[in-house]
This record gives sequence, structure tokens and C-alpha cells, in this order.
Amino acid sequence: MDFIVPVNEMLTDKITKLNNTLIPPGFHGDVRSVRIMQETLSKLIDRLGEQSSTAQNLNRVITTAEKLRNSPDLILYILKDASAKGGKGELIGLLKVGWKHLFLFDEQDKVRQVEPLCVLDFFVLPDYQRHGYGKVLFDHMLKDLNATPKELAIDGPSPKMEQFLRKNYGIQRLIRQNTNFAISPDFFTAFAETSKSGRSTPVVTTSVGRFAAPKPQSVIANVIHGDSGYQETSNGFYRCRQMSRQDSLQHT
Ligand code: ACO
Repeated sequence: MDFIVPVNEMLTDKITKLNNTLIPPGFHGDVRSVRIMQETLSKLIDRLGEQSSTAQNLNRVITTAEKLRNSPDLILYILKDASAKGGKGELIGLLKVGWKHLFLFDEQDKVRQVEPLCVLDFFVLPDYQRHGYGKVLFDHMLKDLNATPKELAIDGPSPKMEQFLRKNYGIQRLIRQNTNFAISPDFFTAFAETSKSGRSTPVVTTSVGRFAAPKPQSVIANVIHGDSGYQETSNGFYRCRQMSRQDSLQHT
């Protein structure tokens, strides 16, 4: 795909952090050139977002430029290969994060109200996968936001994501929640200890309101005791994931 503005002219750094302004740090120009740059960048982001959703078997696109523009709380990190396209550069990866207000069950099945940093979309072009690019992007985000892997909530982690976290950050398993967000078993400890990335500290809420109602069979207990359909079957997993992502699409 050819674009009016080459990637290397829009993005000076290997990794660029974008927010809803859709203006890369360091980009200068008059109103017209900013508009042209944003149009080009939007197409690139939309294309990468589509590829990400396809790679994850999702039936809706999670990351688009329009969603980013409409969501002041989201941060999108994009990774480029400066040498691609005859030296014009190409976008090869994205990582979208944001803070979400969540009710999460801990391993004792207590509901906690938290606002952790959430990983919402993560993708590296297939030809570039398993070459360390994902880790470079992820590490950059962690450093930039002063966060640790164990305090993150992951929205519908794919099997590749689970392996990525296991290999690179020693997170051996994830605990899936009813909302299909998933957390490390050390999430609450890490979150409480650091409280670096969260905008609120975890609050143990006694079961009130809708949480006082009898719960269906505990997903966490299932995961812990190893008979969860969520974790083991990729079909079931993706079905659950689609529901979760669709439910939260307007927010992500
Ligand atoms: N199969 C199994 N594990 C994989 C694969 C794969 N095809 N690709 C990456 N991994 C895991 C492995 O642990 C791998 O280590 P190994 O090669 O020694 O086995 C490790 O990730 C490699 O780390 P990086 O090279 O740094 O990661 P990469 O550049 O491949 O990026 C990513 C990881 C983003 C998950 C990439 O594989 C990808 O885009 N996958 C498809 C989309 C996807 O599943 N995204 C995550 C969705 S969950 C979410 O967005 C919240």
C-alpha cells in the first residue's frame, strides 16, 4: 500500500506514542500538512488494526484511528521498520493500552474494584513475529508508563499473547474473568505494591448490589482447578473473546 506521506517522514522514532490528537511527537508543519499527515497515518492505523483483528479471529476491528480520536484515555504505540519499502519505512506493529474501570475477582473470589492499565490490542505483522519486535514494543510501553507486566489487565489474551507473557515476563498463567479480561495470579499484589500505573488503588468491595446475587459457576475456580472451557478450547476462547470485545467496543 502506498501513501502520500512516507512513514519515515511522519514518524521520526522507531516507536511512536499517539493519543487522540493523532499528531506524532516532533511532527511539524502547517495546517494542510498536518491534515495530510493525519489522513495518511489514519489509513495506516486502520490497516494495521484490521490485520490485528484478522490475526485474532475477531469479527470486529478493535483499533481504528477514529476510535483513538474519540477516546482521550487511550494510548497507541506504533512500531516502524525504517528500512522497509525502499527506505520509506513501514508500520509493523501496534500496542493499544488504556485505563479501565473494572470489577475483578481475586483468587478468593472476592470482587475488587480497580482501574488498572489494560492491554487492549497488540499486533506485529506476521513476517516480523518471533523476532523480538513485540517485546521491544511492550517494554517501551512498560517503561513509558512506569508499569510492570503483572499489574496489567489483558483484554481477551490470545494463545500467542499468553505464550508471549510466559516467555518474556515469566507469567505462567492468566486468570480469566467473567468479562474476559485476564490477569496474572500476582495482579493484586503487584497492583497494591506499586500502584504505579493504576489511577486508583484496589478496593475490596464486599458483595453488594448485583455482586451479592448468587454467582454462576466461578470462572476463576474453574481456571484454578483446571476445567475451564475458556482456557483450553480455542473455539470457545475466541467466542468468549468476541463477546467481550464487542461489549466493550464503544469504549476501546
Ligand atoms: N506461536 C506461539 N507463540 C508465539 C508466536 C506464535 N506464532 N508468536 C509469538 N509467540 C510468543 C512466543 O512466546 C515467542 O517466543 P518463542 O519464539 O521463543 O516461542 C514470543 O512470543 C516472541 O516474542 P516477540 O518476538 O517479542 O513477539 P512478537 O514480535 O511475535 O509479538 C505478538 C507478539 C504481538 C503476540 C504477535 O505474535 C502477534 O501479533 N500475534 C497475533 C496477534 C495476537 O495474538 N495478538 C495478541 C492479542 S491479545 C491482546 O491484544 C490483548
